[in-house]
Amino acid sequence: MILNTRYTVSKCLTLSRARFQSTNLHFYQNRKLEEYATKEAKRLSLRQLVFYGRFMSEERLIKSANYVRTELPVRIAHRIRDLQALPYAVVMQEDVAKVYELYWSAFEKFRMFPRIETLEDNESFCSFLRGLLDEHAVVIPNLSLGLSLASPHLPPDQLDAFMRRMLVSRISRRVLAEHHIALSDSVGRYQGTGKEEGHVGIICTGLNVEKSVRRCAALLHQLTHDSDKSKPSNTHHIQWPAVTIEGHIGAQFAYIREHLEYIIFELLKNAMQATISKHGQKTNPPGILVTLVAAPDSIGMRISDQGGGLLNPQIRSPSDLFSFSHVRNASRLEQNNLGPLRTASASPTGMRATVEELVSRWKDEWRQREDGASLKNDSELEPCVGRHPRLGIGLAMSNIFVRYFGGTLELVSLDGWGTDVYLRLPKLGTNLEGIEV
Ligand code: COI
Repeated sequence: MILNTRYTVSKCLTLSRARFQSTNLHFYQNRKLEEYATKEAKRLSLRQLVFYGRFMSEERLIKSANYVRTELPVRIAHRIRDLQALPYAVVMQEDVAKVYELYWSAFEKFRMFPRIETLEDNESFCSFLRGLLDEHAVVIPNLSLGLSLASPHLPPDQLDAFMRRMLVSRISRRVLAEHHIALSDSVGRYQGTGKEEGHVGIICTGLNVEKSVRRCAALLHQLTHDSDKSKPSNTHHIQWPAVTIEGHIGAQFAYIREHLEYIIFELLKNAMQATISKHGQKTNPPGILVTLVAAPDSIGMRISDQGGGLLNPQIRSPSDLFSFSHVRNASRLEQNNLGPLRTASASPTGMRATVEELVSRWKDEWRQREDGASLKNDSELEPCVGRHPRLGIGLAMSNIFVRYFGGTLELVSLDGWGTDVYLRLPKLGTNLEGIEV
């Protein structure tokens, strides 16, 4: 029965594939897919990635390349299977079908890529990976847009579980690819050590949490400062809340800096926006307090704001904010979420997960939206803050980043006062990647 459904769905997808690319999904290709999809992913821990990359030799680099070459198509095959198991109406949705296309194409390319034997082979493998990383930059906006639009066709639990698998798996593939590229680059540059100062591959071995919080806060403040400068002089200067850091200031651990800073940036941005929305243009809006804790096996962080809490009649539980389903999070079908997603899906750079890119996208859109506009009174401030360009998936994506290596993210609303966000990330690096990879 399941096989029949799958067969029907794959047939439909064949038609959809033909719409985007004039190739047919051949029986042989499906058999190959099955072969890979029956294999289990070889999940790794952060510690394994660090230990392996710490001492690099030509032989170890080539072994790493072949692991990535054979592991990624297995992970992609599982996700193609997931896509094939979606209801017809969902998988035929244009943006979902585009992702399906991209995955099939990547799967075939990996499958065909010859075994890596030499450093020259590895160089071409790395440029192949770089090309795919770029090509897949549109996956998240496409998936989010597609699944938002198709949300009425999927029960919320099914939709969220599907998105979790797609996104955790995507993070995992990008981590493996980017880590291998970084190891290859550093072997070239550092004559065989694989280790750049403070880094092994893409992992920062002594990531200072306080510095990351400061960096994100500074970027957010700089962003508002720049956008103020781009506004006409008669507009109000919005003073953004100050960020105070307390607790275990020296806390550090081995982690992927981009992941940590993506999460912190999003959480601070939400806290700042909520504070400005509640307190308007006060010269000194209440600040945001970040408390850091270095526990024996985890790094903890609490971000407390006075932005009024999560008083939103449409949200029944704070965790609904992590949901991609319109049933749990009605904003998924709102134009101000769909619009930016449409723009990002159509852009060749899609969405990249580094803070700088996030900020520059935010800045550009802020400028575009604010150009020529002037804020005349308090009542205009809230919509202006509300208009901050967002893809609307920052919190949901942060939760996915947190879960990838077994962390937790919890929001507690003190309705009428503010929100406390609790972030916990394992510190020992021994957790395997999420089961969903
Ligand atoms: C993705 O970004 O979705 C990927 O799968 C990247 C990988 C092909 C290198």
